[in-house]
Amino acid sequence: MSEQVEINQDLKKYLQELGYRKDTLVDELASETKKLGKVARMQIAKEQGQFLEIIVKISNAKSCLEIGRFTGLSTLFMARGLPKDGKIVTVDTSDEFLPIAEKYWDQDNQASKIKSIIGDGTEVMQSFIDRQYIFDIIFIDADKNNYPNYYELALSLLPSNGIIIIDNMLWHGDVADISILDSRTQAIRDLNQKIKEDKRVEFSLIPLSDGLSFIRKK
Ligand SMILES: C[S@@+](CC[C@H](N)C(=O)[O-])C[C@H]1O[C@@H](n2cnc3c(N)ncnc32)[C@H](O)[C@@H]1O
Repeated sequence: MSEQVEINQDLKKYLQELGYRKDTLVDELASETKKLGKVARMQIAKEQGQFLEIIVKISNAKSCLEIGRFTGLSTLFMARGLPKDGKIVTVDTSDEFLPIAEKYWDQDNQASKIKSIIGDGTEVMQSFIDRQYIFDIIFIDADKNNYPNYYELALSLLPSNGIIIIDNMLWHGDVADISILDSRTQAIRDLNQKIKEDKRVEFSLIPLSDGLSFIRKK
């Protein structure tokens, strides 16, 4: 049986170079985000963005929900994967970086597909459940302590065959270090365990960048 390859520094560099096709607009958004300093670490990897776009395309999704927008790179990739009449709702508690996101969504002609909501992810999701909204794909990339809540809420917002994608599920490798017991690491660890045992879903834990959990609701 083949084994998970060890991702050392050389292979990491290789993955970044060969796993991403140059895209000027994406590079500009990434470099503007980098100038913001430490917070830039929150942005998804470009390789992950490409993956999100493909999944949205091949699943023929028309409606997506994103929890955790920041400067909007993941939103941009998902919007690109949608058809012209597709929609992505993106939720973030902060509007601080929305103008950056909107600038690039506009430049890429994706703005008409994107609806931005400023609010708490769990509250917004609950309000969608109350109004019986359904989404084809839900991408979760916000506060880690709420990951188990987002997962349950997402399952209520998906039809059979709906997809959940969750970022940071390897959490810089901390999930595998049993000496690390902070609440965020523990929340991610618990959720990985829960998904593995959850008979309502099929899943794949993909070591792409900081780890994506890819989940299909049965
Ligand atoms: C990792 S960043 C998202 C990165 C984004 N997906 C991207 O590609 O650039 C996490 C975001 O979640 C937001 N956030 C934190 N707590 C939240 C909550 N309770 N509800 C919604 N968003 C939240 C933060 O403001 C931050 O912008």
